[in-house]
Amino acid sequence: MKIGNATVISFINLKGGVGKTTSAVNVAATLAKREVKFGRTTKQASVLLIDLDPQSNASLTLLDKEQYAEIDKTDQTLYKLFENEISRLDDSETFDLGKIRVTPIDGLNLDLLPSSLKLIDIQDKLVSYHRYYLSATDILFNALHKLKNPEGKAYTHIIFDCPPSLGLITLNALSLSRYYIVPTLLDAYSHWGLDKIVECIARLKRCKASCEVELLGVLYSKIDTNSTIENNKWIDEFKNWGVEFENWLSKNISKEKASIIFNSRIKNADIIRKAEADHRPLIEYYPSDSKLKNQKREHQKEWDSLVDEILERISPKIETKVSLPAVKSEII
Ligand SMILES: Nc1ncnc2c1ncn2[C@@H]1O[C@H](COP(=O)(O)OP(=O)(O)OP(=O)(O)O)[C@@H](O)[C@H]1O
Ligand SMILES: [Mg+2]
Repeated sequence: MKIGNATVISFINLKGGVGKTTSAVNVAATLAKREVKFGRTTKQASVLLIDLDPQSNASLTLLDKEQYAEIDKTDQTLYKLFENEISRLDDSETFDLGKIRVTPIDGLNLDLLPSSLKLIDIQDKLVSYHRYYLSATDILFNALHKLKNPEGKAYTHIIFDCPPSLGLITLNALSLSRYYIVPTLLDAYSHWGLDKIVECIARLKRCKASCEVELLGVLYSKIDTNSTIENNKWIDEFKNWGVEFENWLSKNISKEKASIIFNSRIKNADIIRKAEADHRPLIEYYPSDSKLKNQKREHQKEWDSLVDEILERISPKIETKVSLPAVKSEII
């Protein structure tokens, strides 16, 4: 499924606390500062971040508490879309997502569709949803299809922050995504669940021919730089797992062989939490303290490097990166 020419990417892992939201927010914001090439033309990226997690962490990262409380109280969240979809008459229009879209940071081409805890209740009701022959996993596609950015133009990228589960609402995102990225911790057990997600998504693709989502890469996130020996051990273990997994992928799912683990890695860094506390993605966090400024600059290089790599992995026929200073991704 395609939403115009937008590249749609889901951040997903069934494991909680692995950096899905942090990655979705910072990749979306870093992308929003870029110019990207579409065929022969270059244009300013325009990014839509969709918070599909009822925990609403992406919404709370980008909006201050009072602003979010008001938005949630007045149901200007994705809850409204699903609630409207369940109750609307067949002849009435799909909910207009433009009504709940917010632009959290002035001057940044990043819009947000906020989430709500109420998505938990609505998910149960979606089980019995049907409208003609449409399924509950098509609701977002139908609504997004019509959505333009505030300037009336198409978004260049749509990023989903998914919850750590594969419920009906997450399936909405995967059904229309072109790629998914799996952030993971670099520890003893994190690769155990990874095969499971890939298998579940492969099953979704078998059931739904229009779903063309593909694994763009596995991202090591929140790397603890104080435990070099342990990290190297887990890097080796992940590498072995990666080789086996790539073989399995090429036999069972994709004919093409590609390295699935991103070269870019994201270190555990306090500055990320400081930016979050200020309700900003790192690239838009401007501390006055010179030590913090340096930390920001250093850590943002990791997100820049990741976004470079994402753009490289996305079909070069449609989109290529515009050059930025090269960043060394080796960190341990
Ligand atoms: N690179 C990082 N450095 C420091 N802290 C980080 C980093 N990435 C994430 N965190 C912190 O780790 C916690 C979990 O991260 P995050 O919310 O992104 O994970 P998640 O996978 O989205 O979790 P959930 O499954 O609950 O949605 C957050 O408090 C976040 O601030
Ligand atoms: Mg999250």
